[in-house]
Amino acid sequence: MPITTCVFDAYGTLFDVSAAARQAASEPAFAQISESWPALAEFWRQKQLQYTWLRAVTDAHEDFWQVTQQGLDWALEKTGHDGDAALRERLLALYWELQSYPEVPQMLRTLKDAGLETAILSNGSPDMLAGAVDSAGIAALLDEVLSVESVGVFKPDGRVYDLVGKRFGCSPDEVLFCSSNGWDAGCATGYGFNVVWVNRAGDPLDRLPWTPPHILSDLTEVPRLAGM
Ligand code: LAC
Repeated sequence: MPITTCVFDAYGTLFDVSAAARQAASEPAFAQISESWPALAEFWRQKQLQYTWLRAVTDAHEDFWQVTQQGLDWALEKTGHDGDAALRERLLALYWELQSYPEVPQMLRTLKDAGLETAILSNGSPDMLAGAVDSAGIAALLDEVLSVESVGVFKPDGRVYDLVGKRFGCSPDEVLFCSSNGWDAGCATGYGFNVVWVNRAGDPLDRLPWTPPHILSDLTEVPRLAGM
């Protein structure tokens, strides 16, 4: 089936999640993370994601903003910065103002000009996603921002991927789903979407039962894969 709908994961795919720690580290007030910020950012992201999976399998949902704060608290303690309230507050504030990766606006514009539907499908809560979409200036290039909050469970639960067909009335094989998360790309392939794994970090392929058919290093080539 031809692709009618291009759907994007948000954090790490459209929005640069490590930008919060990188930005804070560049500010004189937070010189204490000038060297440790990459580890802090990595621990924060890993714990945030682990908590989403654990909450999904134990049916203990809380929204992504809670999980993001819990992941940060673990990472701050791990890197010796627990109790640094000003640093915590600054990092959390920056998470609401993430920039998109440089290729994102033009790539979305090309898809929209060709008449395709575009959407975000994310673990993010609706208000977090609205903040990121606004600060990146891409609201006009998206037909929909789908949040897991409408089903109360995180990815890769199939009820999350079902949101795309419910909103756009399309079948999974009409969807091109793009995610920088290897686990999300693998599980979405298992669900039946056409998938692009945006392997920005040059990571090894996740050892899952499903292998994404397309692997890119950024989103520039997505319109070509969508058939344009
Ligand atoms: C999201 C996370 C998984 O946006 O990156 O859903």
